[in-house]
Order: sequence, then structure tokens, then C-alpha cells
Amino acid sequence: MIINTDLEQKGNQFPRQIIKYKKDVDVLSFFAENDVALQVTVVRDSVLRFRYATTGTFDKDFSYAITKYASRGYNKLEIVEHENAYQITTSKLICNINKDDLRVSIFDAQDKALISQDEIGFHWEESYEHGGNIVKMSKMSNEGESYYGLGDKSDHLNLKGKRFQNWATDSYAYGKETDPIYKAIPFFIGLHHKKAYGIFFDNSFRSFFDFAQEKRNVTSFWAHGGEMNYYFIYGPEMNDVIESYTDLTGKPHSLPPLWALGFHQCKWSYYPESKVKEVTSTFRKLKIPCDAIYLDIDYMEGFRCFTWNKDYFPDPKRMVKELADDGFKTVAIIDPGIKVDKDYWVFQEGLKNDYFCRRADGPYMKGKVWPGECYFPDYTKPEVRDWWSGLFKELIEEIGVKGVWNDMNEPAVMEVPNKTFPDDVRHDYDGNPCSHRKAHNIYGMQMARATYHGLKKFCYPKRPFVITRSAYSGTQRYTSTWTGDNVATWEHLWIANIQVQRMAMSGYSFAGSDIGGFAEQPSGELFTRWIQLGVFHPFFRVHSSGDHGSQEPWSFDEDVTDIVRKFIELRYQLLPYLYTAFWNYVDHGAPLLKSLVLYDQADSQTHYRTDEFVFGEQILVCPILEPNAKGRRMYVPKGKWYNYWTKERVKGGKEMWVEADIDRMPIFIKEGAIIPVYPVMQYVDEKPIDELTLSIFYKEGREDSQLFDDAHDGYDYIKGRYSLRTFKLTGRPNELIIQQHKEGKYITTYETFMLNIHGLPFKIKEIQIDNMKIPLESIKTNGKNSMVVDKNFNEVHIIGE
Ligand code: GLC
Repeated sequence: MIINTDLEQKGNQFPRQIIKYKKDVDVLSFFAENDVALQVTVVRDSVLRFRYATTGTFDKDFSYAITKYASRGYNKLEIVEHENAYQITTSKLICNINKDDLRVSIFDAQDKALISQDEIGFHWEESYEHGGNIVKMSKMSNEGESYYGLGDKSDHLNLKGKRFQNWATDSYAYGKETDPIYKAIPFFIGLHHKKAYGIFFDNSFRSFFDFAQEKRNVTSFWAHGGEMNYYFIYGPEMNDVIESYTDLTGKPHSLPPLWALGFHQCKWSYYPESKVKEVTSTFRKLKIPCDAIYLDIDYMEGFRCFTWNKDYFPDPKRMVKELADDGFKTVAIIDPGIKVDKDYWVFQEGLKNDYFCRRADGPYMKGKVWPGECYFPDYTKPEVRDWWSGLFKELIEEIGVKGVWNDMNEPAVMEVPNKTFPDDVRHDYDGNPCSHRKAHNIYGMQMARATYHGLKKFCYPKRPFVITRSAYSGTQRYTSTWTGDNVATWEHLWIANIQVQRMAMSGYSFAGSDIGGFAEQPSGELFTRWIQLGVFHPFFRVHSSGDHGSQEPWSFDEDVTDIVRKFIELRYQLLPYLYTAFWNYVDHGAPLLKSLVLYDQADSQTHYRTDEFVFGEQILVCPILEPNAKGRRMYVPKGKWYNYWTKERVKGGKEMWVEADIDRMPIFIKEGAIIPVYPVMQYVDEKPIDELTLSIFYKEGREDSQLFDDAHDGYDYIKGRYSLRTFKLTGRPNELIIQQHKEGKYITTYETFMLNIHGLPFKIKEIQIDNMKIPLESIKTNGKNSMVVDKNFNEVHIIGE
């Protein structure tokens, strides 16, 4: 296998001297003496695409990852031929291409700082066994460089000094060192000298990334086939790198329905119907908010997809309706394996239409999953995806299921050593026929895509909700995801925290873990700490295998139930804040979670931090990851922050001890923030909201905050029926000004805001609303700097004595 130092000499392996150059609008092509061609596409001023061919010609350009909505266009594009190199200049980057060997170096166009430089650069090895090449790129690792991204890897947040593989793998009870696991997201971010760039290696074959592991000064990536085809994405802000990567591979096609951001309860499996009802009614009885209940594989007849076990669920439509009347949305699992059973209609249809994957020599791909021997749809064929989408009609339109959970789509196969299809299985790959070597990593994505389209159609005019286990770059356009079969240990709580942060940096923010752990049984304390972290994960679901006992919030002792209730309530209170952050993610790709390095890359103290992160833009959290803790040390980033519990203000830029007994977790609010807060409800839209609270955290200086709202479901927001409020806070030693800017046509149910002001350094002497002096007595205060104001105010001006 090709690695950094050990290149097996098999003839032609490196590009030689450039002999020809061609420019075609934004595509610059360079041809070397030995038929190597490099195509550089200027996608945007800060995004360059590099494609290499070893035969002088390129194959058809096709990618599942890149969205057709990706932005294109640049302000400047110049190319100059120098003695030793060609130089491409955009308004953001300067890229030199060495005439001798096609080696590339990239500089910041403003200050000419070196950002990235090829070591050997592109090289390859012919694959004797499969044909084509093993393609490789090696670059210099810069002094003090850190690396982030790569999807669901369970290791340290900073990937430096490590090597990883991308090959979607079913990984029951994986650990910190297990690699690869479920997802393949070949995108990383490099950060050095305060500047960040990203590389997206859009190649679906088994791929590898070595971050200065084998050689301290070299970072390289390679794949077992396909093209050397990567995008270089410049920041210099990490946030801009992530937004650009998300722009390329796609933002979620729509906002999720708001209920999907509520709390979800799951187990393998809740059955029969009476058990499901017992769980849902206990949530209501104990007043623990919950929006979704899951049906795992046992709801089916012998694990046949799109069937129901009528002994357990005699009338699914009635049950789903009764659950819906009680505020519960039903989510059902659907796996890819279709049971080989000649009396089963899905199997019959698939067989009749030749929709199942075949081995190289013609037989069907047969493998064991839950139902026993199965055949597997080839989701890489558009016709098969259409068929699959259509299968959801009854489940969604008739029965009323609101969400679908796609599992085992790596694809997982049981009782075989490689846990998946053999390499020779054939796939259509949207008209680019190939073997499983190329299609493996995108198989789960294409299944989730077909499921998403089915739901979108059959739940219209509502928004679809899908969750997938496997994913390739771009899957975030269609579905949410979770981190697979983890374990009920403290180490796994650490892993869950890392994975969900890393997914957010990898363009895939709508993610969460199996809270409490899938395998084994958590203690009440571990469960409580995991719920606390889950409140701040975009996808908030308890799930467990059920082999070792129950994992409902009341399965431990009463204290646990009470604390867990309090934290789930906090999630529901923060829903307008999370929904606004989600809108920012859908609108321009802003990650929902910001690891400290992403929040403040200029502060090198943040580069190796793992635990703390910013939820949205203004709430800093740090989970407690150890038993018996009464608090913990954490790094509070620069700036001033309010302790959420005590409202005490702290100055960041240092590590500090923060109290957090079992009923608390370290939560801080950025000074100047205005946080919208809902009243506690048992499920989303249980009651109309007639007053929204704005928690205001005084700052001397300025800070902007936003509040997005709409109908919480449906597509009217796309037609302008949304409400976006921007609050500009300005604090001075004896005054506080809040200006509001309103946008959009949606009329919110509430008419007033309750302003709760924290940290005001003066006693209020006068209040003016839209320049009208309001007699202090006429303001509804509760003695704690709280007041009710009309939601359409333009300016609230509070003057001190
Ligand atoms: C897999 C999934 C898990 C699910 C189980 C049964 O292990 O990862 O979430 O409960 O299969 O469907």
C-alpha cells in the first residue's frame, strides 16, 4: 500500500515538466511531459479545485457530494507565466504551480503568507489488481499546525500526529481508537500562524489521511482508486472555511420541523403498542417534555421493511393518531436489507424490476442482516431511488408516521469478516457503473437521500425528518444523524462530546449521540450528565439496546428524574435560540456548535481543548465528564461571560474552576447577548405562546443578537413568511439601549416581550420606548429589572441614576 516514505518504484509515478498550458474561462489546465494533467478550477476567490489525470484526459466529472446550489464566481482571476512557475491570482489567493513537477504552493493574496505547500505533491501507483491508480497527495505540515474535521472520528479533536481511514463501517461498541467507524467525510481543516484553510478530497474510494504522523513535517491523503480531486478552501477564519465547505457540499434543504429539535425517546425496542403507550403516558404524567417516540425493528413483521407486526401493533394508524393527539411524533426505522422472501411484495417488486445489487458475475448480492438473508437495493440508480421513495406512501401518508430512521446503511452485513459487501458488487453510480470499492462510502447517503425524497413528498406540506447512521460529505442536505452504537461509559460521554463537535466542523451540525449509551447500562449519574450534554446537541435523543435495562428518565432514582426533567425543560426554553441558530446554519452554513478553536482560533490556548464549546453564537457550555464531580476546571474563552446559574460575570482568557454539582453543568452566556426563551411546554406548540422572554445580559459596549421565527413547520418561510428580529445592544456606564430591526412577513402569536435584564450596573431612573418617556410606575416590573414591552418596539432606552 502506498504510504509517505515507502513508494514502491513501478515506473511512472510523478508528474514531469509542464509542456503546455490552456485557459478556458475559470479552468486552467497544465499538461506535463509524461501525460499528467492538472486542472485548476477557480470556484470562488477563496476556493480552488485541483484535479489530476495520469493519462492526459479526465473521466466524466461526477460527484454525489457537491451540490448544484454551490456558489461560483470570483472577483479577480489572473494568470502569469514566470520562469519557474505559473502564478494564478484571485482576490484572496495566490497559487504557484511549479513548471518542473506540478508542485503547488498557495499564499494569502493580502499579506503573501504561505498557507499550503506540496511536499512531493501529486503522485500515484498503478493498481495492478483493480486497474486505475492509487492516488496520493502530500503536503508540508507547517510549524505549529493543527488539524480538525473528518466527520465522526472518535479520537482527540485535534487530529495532529494521527492517521485515519474513511470506510463506512458498522462499529458496535466502538472505542476511542476505533477507526474507521460509520461515516466517511474526507474534509479537514488545517490551522497555523492564525490562519485556517480546508481540504475536501472528493473521492469516494477507501481513503486515508495522515496528519504529520508518519513524517513530522508532512500531511498527506490518498485513496485506493478514482481521481486525485480536491478542493482547497481558504479562510483565513475557520468559520469561513466551514461555511464554504458547507456551501460546496450543501446546507440542509430545509429547516427541520421545530418538533425535531425537541426531546426524542427511543429504545430497541418499544413493543407492543401497550408498552409504547406506557412510555409516552409516563412522560406526560411526570411532566417531562418529549416530542418523538421511536419504533425500532420489532414493529415490523419478521423485520421486513414497510410491514407491521399485527400482533404487536394491530392498528398502527389508530396508534400513531392517538400518539399524535398526545403530542408525540412517531419515528420508524427502515433498514436497507430486503428479506429474501418470494411472498413479500417489496422483495417481489425489487426482483421484478432488477433493483437489487448484483455481484460482478451476475448473481444478486446476498447478505445476512436482521431479517436473515437479504438483497439490497442499488440506491445509486435514480430509478431505484424513485421506487424506494414511493415505498413510503403508506407509512407516511396513510399511517401518519412523521420521521424515518435509516440504519445499517454502511451497508452492514452480519457474519462476514469485512462487515459489508464484497468489493466486486456492481453499482450504477448514476450512470457511471462501478464496483463497491467506489460506491461503498456513498451507499448510505444515497439510501438516506431516497428516503428523504419519499418523506418530503408524502408528508407535504409538512417538512420531512430523516435520520441516518452512515454518511458521506453532503448527506447533511437530506438528513440528521447520530453517532451509532456507543457504550454507557464515561469515556463514551467524552467521545460523544468530541464527535458532535467534530461533525459540526465537518458541515454536519444536525447530529447527536445515543444518550446514556447504546450498549450496557449507565448509572443514574452518568445518564444525568449525558442528558446535560444532550441539551446542547442539535439532535437530542435517548436510545439504548435494551439488553441491560431501561433508559427512560424515570428508570433511575427520583433525583435523577427531577434533574433530567429540569434539563429537558431547559432545552425547551432554549428552542427559539436553537431554532435561530439552525436558521443560520440552513441559510449560510454557520455550524451550530463551535469548538473553542473555532470560536477563537487566534488564541492558541484553544487549539488542543476538547471539552468546551459554544452552542449557537452566545452560549458556552462544558459538560461534566467524570463521576462524583462537584465542578470542574474549564477554559473560558476571551471576553466576559455570565454564569448562567449565578449571573456572576467572569473574565475569560483563562482556565477556571466552575461549580457544577449533579444538578448543574457549567453554562455561560456571552455578555451583551439577548437570549430568547420559551415557556416550558410538554411538546412543541402544545399551546400558543403569548409572551416571549428576552434574557438580556448587560455589556458595556455592543453586541448583536437575532431571533428567527416562523410557523415551525411547512415551507411558508421560504416565501417570506418568517420573522427575523435583530437586536442591537449598546451599553454605557449609565444607559442601555436596545434597538430592534424587523424583517419578514410572519406574524408571531405573541404580542409582547418580557425583558429580563441581568447585570445592569445602575439603578433605573428613566425608560424611553421609541423616544417616549414611560412613567416608571406604568412599567410592569417585578422588582428584578423585568418589564413587558410591545414586540414591535424600535428602541428601548434605559437610563440610570
Ligand atoms: C443498530 C443500530 C441501533 C438499533 C439496532 C436495531 O445496532 O445502530 O441504533 O437500535 O441496530 O435496529
